[in-house]
Amino acid sequence: MSRHICTRWAFDLSSWSPTLPQLSQAVALVQPEERVRLMKFHFIDDFLSSLIGRLLMRKYVSSCTGLAQHQVQFARDVRGKPYWVKKEDCEAPPLSFNVSHQGNMVLLAGITGESQDPDFGIGTDVMKIEYGGGKSLSEFFRLMRNKFSEHEWSYIGRPQHNERAQLKAFMRHWCLKEAYVKELGVGITVDLQKISFSVDTTHNLGEEVSPLIGTTLRCHDKPMDNWHFEEHLLQEEYCAAIAFRNCQPQEHGRFKILGIEELLVKSQESELQEVVAYCQKALVKPHKRS
Ligand code: COA
Ligand code: MG
Repeated sequence: MSRHICTRWAFDLSSWSPTLPQLSQAVALVQPEERVRLMKFHFIDDFLSSLIGRLLMRKYVSSCTGLAQHQVQFARDVRGKPYWVKKEDCEAPPLSFNVSHQGNMVLLAGITGESQDPDFGIGTDVMKIEYGGGKSLSEFFRLMRNKFSEHEWSYIGRPQHNERAQLKAFMRHWCLKEAYVKELGVGITVDLQKISFSVDTTHNLGEEVSPLIGTTLRCHDKPMDNWHFEEHLLQEEYCAAIAFRNCQPQEHGRFKILGIEELLVKSQESELQEVVAYCQKALVKPHKRS
């Protein structure tokens, strides 16, 4: 399996309180149908998470292809998975990317490959290691029973795991499963219990050891040797996973945290004027925790 160039970008929403000019620049980059989608979010937090995801995608495709950001066009497949609409005359290499957001974290994982072998892909997921449900953790796990295999539960519920460690182990498996499912783009239509991960049990997943790369996968008891996984810990409280199908990264690096100035590009004054009223409306949306 050839090695591919992998990009891992993260954005921390707690680092950004958008001003109207910044938000206008950001929104001006987003396609009209996505603006309509974004405006439907009740909370500004969700609006911004999703918006930043769109900016990460745009920056990624632009940086891989040399196209200007406003020339990059995205569409969604029937299940809602975004993809880059590649023009026929474009000679850029095939690429795959996926975005995930939770809490204050927005991630993009992307990978480029070779034209002669375009059948590969990437999926990613991030989860904050917290449990805010009303039920006890053991009751929550009981409800989640059928989402994980016996093998996975035997690791999550290890006697040496206290509640916090169990929750972390749970989130690690959740992210791995979601990253896998998101590469496939199939949503929740797969039997999650038949997808069984074995995580690296010799290392404790920490920020400084990220990524762990020893994870293996069995589907319906068959080893899936064409898949590779990275597990990351970010800011001590976010688990993340990247699933690689038919590809492997050249290097196993960490996520790079980007600042807002790295995501915004200059738009024309007329384009900015067009979105001002829209942005003013967005900025008065309520915050989740205010
Ligand atoms: N496949 C892959 N990526 C998709 C997608 C799909 N079908 N649909 C959307 N995406 C992309 C988009 O960029 C989306 O961002 P947007 O909502 O701002 O447009 C992003 O992935 C969302 O990912 P994430 O933030 O991780 O959201 P999620 O974890 O809530 O949802 C789904 C992920 C919708 C793709 C899907 O996997 C799902 O329905 N999951 C259900 C949860 C579940 O039961 N998981 C069991 C795991 S143990
Ligand atoms: Mg998710």
